[in-house]
Amino acid sequence: MTQKYYLITIGCQMNIADSSRLAAFLEKNNYQKTSNPEQADLIIFNTCGIRQSAENRVYGLVNSIRKKNKKAKIVITGCLSQRSDVQKRLAGLVDIFMPISAMPDMMKLLKNREFKSNLSLDEIRLRQGEKYLAIIPKYASRFSAFVPIGNGCNNFCSYCVVPYARGREVYRPALAIVKEVRELVKKGYKEIILIAQNVNSYKSGSYDFAKLLAQVAKIKGDFWLRFSTSHPKDVSLNLIKVLGEEKKICPHFHLAVQSGDDDILRAMNRGYSAKHFLQLVEKIRAARPGMAITTDIIVGFPGEKRKQFQNTVKLFKAAKFDLAYISRYSPRPMTASYSMPDDVSLEEKKRREKELEKILVQTALSNNQFYKGKTERVLIEGINKAGNYWGRNAAHKVVNIYSQGKANKKVIGSFVAVKINKVTAFNLSGDLL
Ligand code: SAH
Ligand code: SF4
Ligand code: F3S
Repeated sequence: MTQKYYLITIGCQMNIADSSRLAAFLEKNNYQKTSNPEQADLIIFNTCGIRQSAENRVYGLVNSIRKKNKKAKIVITGCLSQRSDVQKRLAGLVDIFMPISAMPDMMKLLKNREFKSNLSLDEIRLRQGEKYLAIIPKYASRFSAFVPIGNGCNNFCSYCVVPYARGREVYRPALAIVKEVRELVKKGYKEIILIAQNVNSYKSGSYDFAKLLAQVAKIKGDFWLRFSTSHPKDVSLNLIKVLGEEKKICPHFHLAVQSGDDDILRAMNRGYSAKHFLQLVEKIRAARPGMAITTDIIVGFPGEKRKQFQNTVKLFKAAKFDLAYISRYSPRPMTASYSMPDDVSLEEKKRREKELEKILVQTALSNNQFYKGKTERVLIEGINKAGNYWGRNAAHKVVNIYSQGKANKKVIGSFVAVKINKVTAFNLSGDLL
């Protein structure tokens, strides 16, 4: 009888991409997807540990789902799977803790019901050779696809769990990446997003990231090319040049700054100064008109004084971001900053977050004036509750399109032209041409 699987994905684009391979792998092995965990024979949590809140979600979900389904095998994979404290906490509720790289061995694991290994995460990955990345995924969307170019991180930012959760960097051969994109474009995909924890460190044979990006951009067909995420210390002038030359690459650069204070940046082990970051922003903006720059920030890193936070405020004003993901510092086991006192109160973290949000609304609104009266190419992503199409432009801005009740599902996933007549901080609106 066909077995049913229920897959929950928590975390970033890497986990979404990994889950699309996991789904394909399971279906090839005769499992069928179900959206009801109570009917599943196999329940898989693809987990994230970036902040305590992501971790807590897993504990809550495993407990409640286990109560409702006592028979299913429960597998924890992804970024929490190899943490011994997590394994201890979930012992008795979970059957298998499986690193995502072990996916090709999953059927064997399910038979044995446990994953016993004295190997470190890096040893497992070395042995597997990241074979799982070669599995052709079951893409979640029919027009937009994440294409992983590698996995892991070597940077060891002092607050970050990713190097421990995913191990050292391993990159996919350029030809395998180009082949996957070529096939997606042939199938009609309109948006390709190259992903890795730090795309700029890509290295495979004679390829660096700039060369890979230029080659993917030269694939024939009508598609947008995006990439994420970039580390400021590794952005090369060559990459900025490619961004200026290849028009399929979208004018949007996500560049996580984390802090605007040099002492905090040093304590975070980020390897650049606030000045270097701002110079980079200037160069990237100059590469293409209408370039959107988005960022990640952590507020309340251990020891962050008000004066140091004010340097982040200053940088925020100067960089004029289009969007920012602001996180309150969350101590992570195993990381270097875990032993530092988490000495900025939650209240103060929230206050700092609000202060940055206020600046963001102003800079984003001011940046969006650029679009007023312009005709923008938009990739339609869906139809909202009011019956209007919504999508994104190349700069990744959300665009609402007045559709006079005529929105048709078939148009989702197509490019259209929209005359922008209204802008807010995080939205553009206009009429379909
Ligand atoms: N590789 C990416 C970041 C991936 S993690 C980069 O370096 O740009 C995504 C974001 O989560 C980080 O940019 C950071 O802002 C946030 N983050 C990571 N660890 C955190 C922690 N311990 N507490 C709060 N936010 C954190
Ligand atoms: Fe984490 Fe730093 Fe690696 Fe990004 S670059 S994943 S923040 S260690
Ligand atoms: Fe989370 Fe792992 Fe991504 S910790 S943010 S799912 S790399």
